[in-house]
Amino acid sequence: MSRVNLSLRDEQLRELMDDPDCDPVRLEATLRRFHRVNRLISGWDQVYRRRLRPLLTGLHRPARVLDLGSGGGDVVTRLAHLAWRDGLQVHWTGADPDPRAHAAALGAQEQHTQDQLPEEQRVEESAQVRFLCADADALLRQGESFDVVISNHVLHHLDAPGLLDFSHASRQLCTGTVLHSDIARSRLAYSLYAVGITPLAPGTFLRTDGLRSIRRSYRREELSAALGAEWTVTSPAAFRLIAEAPGLG
Ligand SMILES: C[S@@+](CC[C@H](N)C(=O)[O-])C[C@H]1O[C@@H](n2cnc3c(N)ncnc32)[C@H](O)[C@@H]1O
Repeated sequence: MSRVNLSLRDEQLRELMDDPDCDPVRLEATLRRFHRVNRLISGWDQVYRRRLRPLLTGLHRPARVLDLGSGGGDVVTRLAHLAWRDGLQVHWTGADPDPRAHAAALGAQEQHTQDQLPEEQRVEESAQVRFLCADADALLRQGESFDVVISNHVLHHLDAPGLLDFSHASRQLCTGTVLHSDIARSRLAYSLYAVGITPLAPGTFLRTDGLRSIRRSYRREELSAALGAEWTVTSPAAFRLIAEAPGLG
């Protein structure tokens, strides 16, 4: 097998899940399994403790948080759980323009309400998250506004104009802080993922799309240049980037 070139972003690669005609069964299995992958690699528990919780507690009122491009909804659901555990009042929204992702998020939420959790926790958590099938422009037209806007693994899916539209619209929707989290492209990330994803991959697009994601992802200085001077891009953990900017709303 020839060695994959990771020195440059491969923006031409298309992920299987981005094909509107992809196998719906495998897509649903992929979206449902994102929660395992995200818990392992995305580092949102740490971002919550270090960045999000201080922002939310600093408001001294119930906060409104949007996860834009929320996919199967696991990141926003996990954050709702962490905030609920901390006694914080937050109105969580997960929005995704893809109806297939929206349906998967609603399905996972329905499943969550049936999980073997103490009833109080089940009701509290699921009531805090609403899922919308919408992109940023639709939310702006509806007059939505949020204290914090986040995303996970969306930036690398977008082409250059799409990245600028998405990042700008996310700031327009936000009165506080925008945090977009994504993979940092590296040879080691690629090699570790190729091995580590093996037990989770059967029946899903996780292997092919995860490796393509890494090839499409940015290095810190590339993302910084692509987003422009208003954004600060940092690496909060190995193989991760966070782009942060103040809201414009
Ligand atoms: C790899 S999935 C990530 C899903 C989820 N955030 C996660 O981490 O599991 C990328 C998601 O971004 C969504 N997406 C793509 N372009 C978007 C856009 N312009 N605005 C909002 N969401 C978008 C897709 O529909 C897809 O659900």
